Amino acid sequence: MSKVTISVIKADVGGYVGHSSMHPELIQKAEEQLSKARDQGKLLDFRVMHCGDDLELIMTHERGVENKDVHKLAWDTFVGATEVAKNLKLYGAGQDLLSDAFSGNVKGMGPGVAEMEFTPRKSEPIVVFMADKTSPGAWNLPFYRMFADPFNTAGLVIDPALHEGFKFRILDLKENKAVMFRCPEDLYDMLVFIGSPSRYAVMAVYRKKDDEIAGVASVQRLGYLAGRYIGKDDPVMIVRSQSGFPAIGEILEAFAFPHLVEGWMRGSHIGPLMPVGFQDAHPTRFDGPPRVIAAGFQINDGKLVGPRDMFADVSFDEARRQANFIAEYMRRIGPFEPHRLPLDEMEYTTLPQVMEKLAGRFESLG
Ligand code: 13P
Ligand code: 13P
Ligand code: MG
Ligand code: MG
Repeated sequence: MSKVTISVIKADVGGYVGHSSMHPELIQKAEEQLSKARDQGKLLDFRVMHCGDDLELIMTHERGVENKDVHKLAWDTFVGATEVAKNLKLYGAGQDLLSDAFSGNVKGMGPGVAEMEFTPRKSEPIVVFMADKTSPGAWNLPFYRMFADPFNTAGLVIDPALHEGFKFRILDLKENKAVMFRCPEDLYDMLVFIGSPSRYAVMAVYRKKDDEIAGVASVQRLGYLAGRYIGKDDPVMIVRSQSGFPAIGEILEAFAFPHLVEGWMRGSHIGPLMPVGFQDAHPTRFDGPPRVIAAGFQINDGKLVGPRDMFADVSFDEARRQANFIAEYMRRIGPFEPHRLPLDEMEYTTLPQVMEKLAGRFESLG
Protein backbone atom coordinates (compact mmCIF):
# COMPACT_ATOMS: atom_id res chain seq x y z
CA MET A 1 0.00 0.00 0.00
CA SER A 2 1.10 3.57 -0.62
CA LYS A 3 1.88 6.02 2.13
CA VAL A 4 -0.62 6.74 4.88
CA THR A 5 -0.73 9.81 7.09
CA ILE A 6 -2.09 9.73 10.59
CA SER A 7 -3.08 13.14 11.93
CA VAL A 8 -4.11 13.63 15.53
CA ILE A 9 -5.45 17.15 16.01
CA LYS A 10 -6.97 18.23 19.31
CA ALA A 11 -8.51 21.22 21.00
CA ASP A 12 -10.45 22.12 24.11
CA VAL A 13 -13.61 23.71 22.77
CA GLY A 14 -15.62 23.55 25.99
CA GLY A 15 -15.54 21.57 29.22
CA TYR A 16 -18.30 19.59 30.92
CA VAL A 17 -18.45 20.29 33.89
CA GLY A 18 -15.82 23.01 34.33
CA HIS A 19 -12.62 21.59 32.85
CA SER A 20 -13.31 17.99 33.88
CA SER A 21 -14.72 16.18 30.86
CA MET A 22 -16.49 16.19 27.49
CA HIS A 23 -20.18 16.49 26.75
CA PRO A 24 -21.32 13.61 24.48
CA GLU A 25 -22.97 16.04 22.04
CA LEU A 26 -19.56 17.46 21.13
CA ILE A 27 -18.28 14.00 20.22
CA GLN A 28 -21.45 13.38 18.22
CA LYS A 29 -21.12 16.67 16.33
CA ALA A 30 -17.45 16.01 15.50
CA GLU A 31 -18.31 12.49 14.33
CA GLU A 32 -21.00 13.85 12.02
CA GLN A 33 -18.59 16.30 10.41
CA LEU A 34 -15.77 13.80 9.99
CA SER A 35 -18.17 11.12 8.65
CA LYS A 36 -19.17 13.51 5.91
CA ALA A 37 -15.51 14.13 5.08
CA ARG A 38 -14.82 10.39 4.96
CA ASP A 39 -17.80 9.82 2.68
CA GLN A 40 -16.46 12.54 0.37
CA GLY A 41 -13.10 10.72 0.24
CA LYS A 42 -11.20 13.36 2.19
CA LEU A 43 -10.27 10.88 4.91
CA LEU A 44 -9.59 7.15 4.87
CA ASP A 45 -10.85 6.79 8.42
CA PHE A 46 -11.22 8.60 11.74
CA ARG A 47 -12.05 8.24 15.42
CA VAL A 48 -13.26 10.99 17.73
CA MET A 49 -12.18 10.61 21.35
CA HIS A 50 -11.65 12.75 24.40
CA CYS A 51 -9.24 12.94 27.27
CA GLY A 52 -10.76 15.09 29.99
CA ASP A 53 -12.00 18.28 28.33
CA ASP A 54 -9.95 17.84 25.15
CA LEU A 55 -11.60 16.80 21.90
CA GLU A 56 -9.29 14.45 19.99
CA LEU A 57 -9.62 13.91 16.22
CA ILE A 58 -7.66 10.87 15.04
CA MET A 59 -7.64 10.82 11.24
CA THR A 60 -6.01 8.76 8.50
CA HIS A 61 -5.61 9.97 4.92
CA GLU A 62 -3.19 10.05 1.98
CA ARG A 63 -2.50 13.78 1.87
CA GLY A 64 0.70 13.99 3.90
CA VAL A 65 1.48 16.02 7.01
CA GLU A 66 0.48 19.68 7.33
CA ASN A 67 -2.11 19.27 4.62
CA LYS A 68 -4.28 22.35 4.28
CA ASP A 69 -7.52 20.47 3.61
CA VAL A 70 -7.07 18.15 6.59
CA HIS A 71 -6.21 21.04 8.88
CA LYS A 72 -9.20 22.99 7.58
CA LEU A 73 -11.42 19.99 8.22
CA ALA A 74 -10.15 19.78 11.83
CA TRP A 75 -10.61 23.51 12.29
CA ASP A 76 -14.16 23.45 10.94
CA THR A 77 -14.93 20.47 13.16
CA PHE A 78 -13.74 22.39 16.22
CA VAL A 79 -15.78 25.41 15.15
CA GLY A 80 -18.85 23.17 14.78
CA ALA A 81 -18.28 21.61 18.21
CA THR A 82 -17.77 25.09 19.68
CA GLU A 83 -21.26 26.04 18.48
CA VAL A 84 -22.67 23.05 20.36
CA ALA A 85 -20.63 24.00 23.43
CA LYS A 86 -21.92 27.56 23.27
CA ASN A 87 -25.52 26.40 23.02
CA LEU A 88 -25.04 24.20 26.08
CA LYS A 89 -23.13 27.02 27.82
CA LEU A 90 -20.28 24.62 28.48
CA TYR A 91 -17.23 25.96 30.23
CA GLY A 92 -14.67 27.82 28.10
CA ALA A 93 -16.49 27.26 24.78
CA GLY A 94 -13.97 27.72 21.98
CA GLN A 95 -11.15 28.00 24.55
CA ASP A 96 -8.34 26.80 22.27
CA LEU A 97 -9.43 28.49 19.04
CA LEU A 98 -7.26 31.58 19.19
CA SER A 99 -8.25 33.01 15.86
CA ASP A 100 -11.54 33.73 14.12
CA ALA A 101 -10.47 32.68 10.66
CA PHE A 102 -8.56 29.66 9.37
CA SER A 103 -5.30 30.55 7.64
CA GLY A 104 -4.00 27.33 6.08
CA ASN A 105 -2.56 25.43 9.05
CA VAL A 106 -4.02 24.94 12.54
CA LYS A 107 -0.53 25.16 14.05
CA GLY A 108 -0.24 28.49 15.80
CA MET A 109 -4.01 28.84 15.97
CA GLY A 110 -4.53 26.99 19.26
CA PRO A 111 -5.13 23.29 18.51
CA GLY A 112 -2.41 20.71 19.18
CA VAL A 113 -1.15 18.63 16.23
CA ALA A 114 0.81 15.38 15.96
CA GLU A 115 1.14 13.87 12.46
CA MET A 116 3.25 11.25 10.77
CA GLU A 117 3.41 9.79 7.28
CA PHE A 118 4.77 6.32 6.54
CA THR A 119 4.48 3.29 4.30
CA PRO A 120 2.58 0.79 6.44
CA ARG A 121 4.37 -2.44 7.26
CA LYS A 122 2.65 -5.79 6.83
CA SER A 123 1.20 -5.21 10.28
CA GLU A 124 1.26 -1.68 11.67
CA PRO A 125 0.46 -1.39 15.39
CA ILE A 126 0.40 2.18 16.73
CA VAL A 127 -0.51 3.82 20.01
CA VAL A 128 -2.01 7.30 20.29
CA PHE A 129 -1.40 8.83 23.70
CA MET A 130 -3.61 11.70 24.83
CA ALA A 131 -3.15 13.67 28.03
CA ASP A 132 -5.13 16.26 29.98
CA LYS A 133 -4.02 18.82 32.59
CA THR A 134 -0.42 18.89 31.46
CA SER A 135 1.84 20.21 28.68
CA PRO A 136 4.02 18.96 25.76
CA GLY A 137 7.16 18.42 27.87
CA ALA A 138 5.24 15.69 29.73
CA TRP A 139 6.24 13.30 26.92
CA ASN A 140 9.99 13.88 27.35
CA LEU A 141 10.53 11.27 30.02
CA PRO A 142 8.35 8.57 28.40
CA PHE A 143 9.97 9.23 24.99
CA TYR A 144 13.37 8.81 26.62
CA ARG A 145 12.26 5.62 28.33
CA MET A 146 10.80 4.07 25.18
CA PHE A 147 13.57 4.90 22.73
CA ALA A 148 16.75 5.37 24.78
CA ASP A 149 16.48 3.54 28.10
CA PRO A 150 17.53 -0.13 28.11
CA PHE A 151 16.00 -0.57 31.58
CA ASN A 152 12.63 0.16 29.95
CA THR A 153 13.06 -1.18 26.42
CA ALA A 154 14.72 -4.57 26.35
CA GLY A 155 14.75 -4.43 22.54
CA LEU A 156 17.47 -1.75 22.60
CA VAL A 157 19.75 -4.45 23.99
CA ILE A 158 18.47 -7.71 22.52
CA ASP A 159 16.73 -6.87 19.22
CA PRO A 160 19.12 -6.32 16.28
CA ALA A 161 16.48 -4.12 14.59
CA LEU A 162 16.59 -1.58 17.47
CA HIS A 163 20.15 -1.97 18.64
CA GLU A 164 21.59 0.99 16.70
CA GLY A 165 19.29 3.35 18.54
CA PHE A 166 17.10 6.31 17.68
CA LYS A 167 17.37 10.01 16.84
CA PHE A 168 15.44 12.61 18.86
CA ARG A 169 14.34 15.96 17.47
CA ILE A 170 14.03 18.47 20.30
CA LEU A 171 12.27 21.83 20.19
CA ASP A 172 13.35 24.86 22.18
CA LEU A 173 9.87 26.17 22.98
CA LYS A 174 11.07 29.65 23.81
CA GLU A 175 13.40 30.31 20.87
CA ASN A 176 11.47 28.13 18.40
CA LYS A 177 14.63 26.27 17.33
CA ALA A 178 15.05 22.52 16.80
CA VAL A 179 18.06 20.28 17.35
CA MET A 180 18.65 16.58 16.55
CA PHE A 181 20.34 14.16 18.98
CA ARG A 182 21.60 10.68 18.08
CA CYS A 183 21.24 8.12 20.83
CA PRO A 184 22.91 6.41 22.57
CA GLU A 185 26.01 8.49 21.68
CA ASP A 186 24.43 11.91 22.45
CA LEU A 187 22.46 10.72 25.48
CA TYR A 188 24.11 12.85 28.13
CA ASP A 189 23.99 15.97 25.96
CA MET A 190 20.34 15.35 25.18
CA LEU A 191 19.38 14.94 28.82
CA VAL A 192 20.73 18.41 29.60
CA PHE A 193 17.85 19.69 27.46
CA ILE A 194 14.96 17.24 27.73
CA GLY A 195 15.41 17.10 31.50
CA SER A 196 13.98 20.64 31.42
CA PRO A 197 10.56 19.95 29.92
CA SER A 198 9.12 23.43 30.43
CA ARG A 199 11.64 24.78 27.92
CA TYR A 200 12.56 21.81 25.67
CA ALA A 201 10.18 19.22 24.25
CA VAL A 202 10.72 16.11 22.15
CA MET A 203 9.01 16.74 18.77
CA ALA A 204 9.77 13.48 17.00
CA VAL A 205 11.85 10.30 17.15
CA TYR A 206 13.37 8.49 14.14
CA ARG A 207 15.01 5.08 13.82
CA LYS A 208 18.67 5.81 13.31
CA LYS A 209 19.56 3.22 10.69
CA ASP A 210 16.96 4.31 8.12
CA ASP A 211 15.40 7.54 9.46
CA GLU A 212 12.01 5.84 9.66
CA ILE A 213 9.58 7.88 11.77
CA ALA A 214 8.94 6.19 15.14
CA GLY A 215 7.12 8.76 17.25
CA VAL A 216 5.77 12.28 17.04
CA ALA A 217 4.26 14.69 19.57
CA SER A 218 2.23 17.88 19.60
CA VAL A 219 4.46 20.69 20.87
CA GLN A 220 2.19 23.71 20.56
CA ARG A 221 2.23 25.87 23.67
CA LEU A 222 -0.79 28.13 23.95
CA GLY A 223 0.92 30.26 26.55
CA TYR A 224 3.65 31.23 24.09
CA LEU A 225 1.15 31.63 21.28
CA ALA A 226 -1.42 33.78 22.98
CA GLY A 227 0.79 35.61 25.47
CA ARG A 228 -1.75 35.03 28.25
CA TYR A 229 -3.26 32.06 30.06
CA ILE A 230 -5.96 30.27 28.15
CA GLY A 231 -5.47 26.70 29.34
CA LYS A 232 -2.58 24.27 29.21
CA ASP A 233 -1.61 22.60 25.97
CA ASP A 234 -2.78 19.15 26.81
CA PRO A 235 -0.58 17.15 24.43
CA VAL A 236 -0.92 14.11 22.16
CA MET A 237 1.68 11.70 20.81
CA ILE A 238 1.71 8.92 18.20
CA VAL A 239 4.12 5.98 18.53
CA ARG A 240 4.73 3.08 16.11
CA SER A 241 5.35 -0.34 17.59
CA GLN A 242 6.80 -3.83 17.04
CA SER A 243 9.07 -5.14 14.23
CA GLY A 244 11.88 -2.60 14.39
CA PHE A 245 10.23 -0.36 16.97
CA PRO A 246 9.69 -0.94 20.70
CA ALA A 247 7.10 -3.61 21.52
CA ILE A 248 3.67 -2.47 22.71
CA GLY A 249 4.58 -3.50 26.24
CA GLU A 250 7.81 -1.49 26.09
CA ILE A 251 5.94 1.59 24.91
CA LEU A 252 3.34 1.30 27.66
CA GLU A 253 5.97 0.48 30.29
CA ALA A 254 7.19 4.09 30.01
CA PHE A 255 4.04 5.10 31.92
CA ALA A 256 4.24 2.52 34.71
CA PHE A 257 5.99 5.12 36.83
CA PRO A 258 3.74 8.19 37.32
CA HIS A 259 6.32 10.95 36.84
CA LEU A 260 5.70 14.55 37.83
CA VAL A 261 4.48 16.93 35.15
CA GLU A 262 3.39 20.56 34.88
CA GLY A 263 -0.29 21.37 34.69
CA TRP A 264 -3.04 20.30 37.08
CA MET A 265 -5.03 23.09 38.75
CA ARG A 266 -5.03 26.29 36.67
CA GLY A 267 -2.08 24.93 34.70
CA SER A 268 0.13 26.12 37.54
CA HIS A 269 1.05 23.04 39.55
CA ILE A 270 3.23 19.96 39.52
CA GLY A 271 1.60 16.56 39.87
CA PRO A 272 1.88 12.91 38.82
CA LEU A 273 0.76 11.80 35.35
CA MET A 274 -1.74 9.00 35.97
CA PRO A 275 -2.26 6.37 33.23
CA VAL A 276 -5.99 5.51 33.08
CA GLY A 277 -8.55 3.67 30.99
CA PHE A 278 -10.88 5.74 28.78
CA GLN A 279 -13.59 5.52 31.47
CA ASP A 280 -11.38 7.34 33.97
CA ALA A 281 -10.22 10.24 31.82
CA HIS A 282 -12.20 12.80 33.84
CA PRO A 283 -9.77 14.70 36.07
CA THR A 284 -11.70 16.09 39.05
CA ARG A 285 -9.51 16.16 42.17
CA PHE A 286 -8.08 19.68 42.20
CA ASP A 287 -8.86 19.42 38.47
CA GLY A 288 -6.55 16.43 38.26
CA PRO A 289 -4.29 14.75 38.84
CA PRO A 290 -3.09 14.92 35.20
CA ARG A 291 -4.26 11.96 33.07
CA VAL A 292 -2.96 10.02 30.12
CA ILE A 293 -4.89 7.51 28.01
CA ALA A 294 -3.48 5.17 25.37
CA ALA A 295 -5.51 4.19 22.31
CA GLY A 296 -4.02 1.23 20.43
CA PHE A 297 -4.78 0.68 16.74
CA GLN A 298 -3.79 -1.66 13.94
CA ILE A 299 -3.72 0.15 10.61
CA ASN A 300 -5.40 -1.89 7.90
CA ASP A 301 -5.33 -0.34 4.41
CA GLY A 302 -5.42 3.06 6.04
CA LYS A 303 -8.38 2.11 8.24
CA LEU A 304 -8.14 2.33 12.02
CA VAL A 305 -8.78 -1.03 13.63
CA GLY A 306 -9.46 -0.03 17.23
CA PRO A 307 -9.15 1.70 19.59
CA ARG A 308 -8.04 -0.74 22.25
CA ASP A 309 -7.98 0.87 25.68
CA MET A 310 -4.36 0.04 26.54
CA PHE A 311 -4.21 1.32 30.14
CA ALA A 312 -7.45 -0.44 31.11
CA ASP A 313 -5.39 -3.25 32.55
CA VAL A 314 -4.93 -4.32 36.15
CA SER A 315 -1.16 -4.20 35.66
CA PHE A 316 -1.43 -0.39 35.73
CA ASP A 317 -3.39 -0.38 39.01
CA GLU A 318 -0.19 0.06 40.99
CA ALA A 319 0.84 3.08 38.87
CA ARG A 320 -2.58 4.59 39.57
CA ARG A 321 -2.30 3.87 43.29
CA GLN A 322 1.13 5.48 43.37
CA ALA A 323 -0.17 8.46 41.39
CA ASN A 324 -2.98 9.00 43.89
CA PHE A 325 -0.52 8.72 46.77
CA ILE A 326 1.83 11.24 45.15
CA ALA A 327 -1.13 13.51 44.38
CA GLU A 328 -2.07 13.54 48.06
CA TYR A 329 1.53 14.24 49.07
CA MET A 330 1.84 17.12 46.60
CA ARG A 331 -1.54 18.61 47.60
CA ARG A 332 -0.39 18.89 51.20
CA ILE A 333 2.32 21.33 50.09
CA GLY A 334 -0.50 23.65 48.98
CA PRO A 335 0.58 27.03 47.61
CA PHE A 336 4.29 26.31 48.08
CA GLU A 337 6.78 25.26 45.41
CA PRO A 338 7.42 22.67 44.13
CA HIS A 339 3.68 21.85 44.11
CA ARG A 340 3.01 25.34 42.83
CA LEU A 341 5.10 26.16 39.75
CA PRO A 342 7.90 28.73 39.96
CA LEU A 343 6.61 32.28 39.50
CA ASP A 344 7.75 32.69 35.90
CA GLU A 345 6.16 29.42 34.79
CA MET A 346 2.72 29.80 36.28
CA GLU A 347 -0.10 30.25 33.84
CA TYR A 348 -1.93 32.41 36.34
CA THR A 349 -0.28 34.99 38.49
CA THR A 350 -1.30 37.79 40.78
CA LEU A 351 2.32 38.90 41.12
CA PRO A 352 2.09 42.16 39.12
CA GLN A 353 -0.99 43.35 41.07
CA VAL A 354 0.46 42.33 44.44
CA MET A 355 3.79 43.99 43.57
CA GLU A 356 2.05 47.18 42.59
CA LYS A 357 0.00 47.24 45.77
CA LEU A 358 3.08 46.66 47.92
CA ALA A 359 5.50 48.81 45.94
CA GLY A 360 5.85 51.35 48.74
CA ARG A 361 6.48 48.69 51.38
CA PHE A 362 9.67 47.27 49.86
CA GLU A 363 12.78 48.96 51.26
CA SER A 364 16.07 48.60 49.45
CA LEU A 365 18.83 47.14 51.63
CA GLY A 366 21.59 48.50 49.44
P1 13P B 1 5.34 -12.54 20.16
O1 13P B 1 6.33 -13.68 20.27
O2 13P B 1 4.03 -12.81 20.89
O3 13P B 1 5.19 -11.98 18.80
O4 13P B 1 5.97 -11.30 21.06
C1 13P B 1 7.12 -10.67 20.65
C2 13P B 1 7.27 -9.41 21.40
O5 13P B 1 7.77 -8.45 20.85
C3 13P B 1 6.82 -9.35 22.81
O6 13P B 1 7.21 -8.16 23.41
P1 13P C 1 -7.51 22.71 30.66
O1 13P C 1 -6.18 23.19 30.13
O2 13P C 1 -7.65 21.23 30.59
O3 13P C 1 -8.64 23.46 30.04
O4 13P C 1 -7.51 23.02 32.23
C1 13P C 1 -7.42 24.35 32.62
C2 13P C 1 -7.45 24.57 34.09
O5 13P C 1 -7.30 25.69 34.50
C3 13P C 1 -7.63 23.44 35.01
O6 13P C 1 -7.67 23.87 36.35
MG1 MG D 1 -10.53 23.35 29.64
MG1 MG E 1 -7.70 20.04 28.90
